[in-house]
Amino acid sequence: MVKKLLRRVGRFKTASMLTPIFTTLEVIMGVLIPYVTAWIIDRGIMQGNMKNVYLYGGIMIVMAALSMTFGILSGKFSAFASSGFAYNLRDAMFKNIQTFSFSNIDKFSTAGLITRMTTDVNHLQNAFQMILRISVRAPLNLVFSIFMCVFINMRMSLIFIIAMVILGTSLYFIISKTVKLFTQVFSKYDDMNKSVQENISAIRVVKAFVREDYENKKFARAANGLYKLYVGTEKLMAINHPVMSMVVYGCIIALSWFGAHFIVAGDLSTGQLTSLFTYVMTILNSLMMLSMIFVQMTMSAASGKRIVEVLDEQADVTNPEHPVMEVPDGSIKFNHVSFSYGNNNGEYAIKDIDLSIKSGETIGVIGGTGCGKSTLANLICRLYDVNKGSVEVGGIDVRSYDMERLRNEVSMVLQNNVLFSGSIIDNLRWGKSDATLEECQEACRMAVADEFIDRMIDGYDTMIEQNGNNVSGGQKQRLCIARALLKRPKILILDDSTSACDTATDAKIRKAFKEDIPNTTKIIIAQRILSVQDADRIIVMQSGQVVGFDTHEHLLETCDIYSDIYHTQMEGAGDFDEKRKGGAA
Ligand SMILES: Nc1ncnc2c1ncn2[C@@H]1O[C@H](COP(=O)(O)OP(=O)(O)OP(=O)(O)O)[C@@H](O)[C@H]1O
Ligand SMILES: [Mg+2]
Repeated sequence: MVKKLLRRVGRFKTASMLTPIFTTLEVIMGVLIPYVTAWIIDRGIMQGNMKNVYLYGGIMIVMAALSMTFGILSGKFSAFASSGFAYNLRDAMFKNIQTFSFSNIDKFSTAGLITRMTTDVNHLQNAFQMILRISVRAPLNLVFSIFMCVFINMRMSLIFIIAMVILGTSLYFIISKTVKLFTQVFSKYDDMNKSVQENISAIRVVKAFVREDYENKKFARAANGLYKLYVGTEKLMAINHPVMSMVVYGCIIALSWFGAHFIVAGDLSTGQLTSLFTYVMTILNSLMMLSMIFVQMTMSAASGKRIVEVLDEQADVTNPEHPVMEVPDGSIKFNHVSFSYGNNNGEYAIKDIDLSIKSGETIGVIGGTGCGKSTLANLICRLYDVNKGSVEVGGIDVRSYDMERLRNEVSMVLQNNVLFSGSIIDNLRWGKSDATLEECQEACRMAVADEFIDRMIDGYDTMIEQNGNNVSGGQKQRLCIARALLKRPKILILDDSTSACDTATDAKIRKAFKEDIPNTTKIIIAQRILSVQDADRIIVMQSGQVVGFDTHEHLLETCDIYSDIYHTQMEGAGDFDEKRKGGAA
């Protein structure tokens, strides 16, 4: 995992290497300075030799300046390296997510992907910066300072060893407890993010159902859980400080006590004692920092794992090695196709479908909710790959095509379609980036969107809010149809795309299709018989299977299910589902 993540440092490798180098230089300066202080005291002040005071004072100023410069440089490079690392991680994740097929996306939740790209990357960025700077500084400081202490006075160093053992053991206990708590914090964090994300993106639904109180309580519960855990971990972490102070003061007292004896005996100079004081602080501080690194690393290990999961996810719908670039015509053939959404215990969403559609035909698809209509359509433009059998477009297996070409020729208006924030024309140009205004107007005319766009003050420059919240359901659907038409596809699939339009508008759209794009194969999925009855042929689906595929007139005679739906709907008893509910009661 670490290797995979480190590979993402990429072009920020130089900065990442310079950071520890400058940190090392900074540490060396920092460690040497107390030693020079000792000289100033011993050879200058104690002997009343001002020349030495100036000389060593001068050296010390230069060293301090160098140490500061190295410090600034290491800070600069570490900021550069860690921000770059985060940038690369996000970039790689985002690019990989773009290659995901629908089934890849089904595996991760949207909230999960967002948390991974934001919070988790932040954790890693902080950890990386910390590791680059502190993980070099702390051990180096520790080793150098111990070395200097031993160098100055062997016997006095024993004090540190005892102090280090005390501090080390207590840190170990505190940290092993905190790490356990922190792992829980992260899973709680996920829960809370999920509840926030769900609530905010569905805020309109929450309001419509007057569920604010319920949502508030749900959020309060999640936030409270997190709060309690945080208090627990912070309480533990807070013990660190008093323990550290106690050990430091203990050391200072011991140093003063033994130091006084050694000085009297002539084994130690005053200056040396002063530098020992500085070293003891450095050593204990380094130990503290090392423990913090350990906490940070365990914290970010969880984040790292979640990031690698996204980076490692292989798109399961990919381009073939030698893709076919041309879609000959708009014919469609299903050869004994079965498909299951992996997560449904292997149950097939569509089973053994075998049919063929001629280029330019208008095909209606009808059936109850959940019978597999959308699934059938998704397979044509390869949003999912079949499990058994094959789907052909223009006589060639869809898996042989270049995906972009295929999806340009098979234009689909998804059932849950979205508009993006931006102007109407920007949204239309999603279908074709270089479309002229005239082309857009033509597409909108066919989709019967022109009449409401013309009524808007800003016309085609009207701004659409995120999710198209400032246009009505039917208007949104018509804009989505226009967007799909702009591609001038060979096959056009409308998945329940006129459900929010009134019957007259629906009929106008169908008429425009018939007159303006007669050679395009049109697949119209609908719940209303009226939307499909004038199609060339109609597919009737039930529980993932095709139970009828013929013209309206023939189906009325031969397909019981179809004639049932027809009569119920014609009698004004509502749509297909209501009939079924009625039947079951
Ligand atoms: N992404 C998915 N993951 C798992 N199962 C799914 C997924 N999408 C659909 N299904 C399941 O597959 C079956 C067929 O769904 P499909 O969306 O094709 O129905 P539909 O005929 O389009 O229904 P509707 O008229 O409500 O749009 C349903 O049982 C549904 O629960
Ligand atoms: Mg559907």
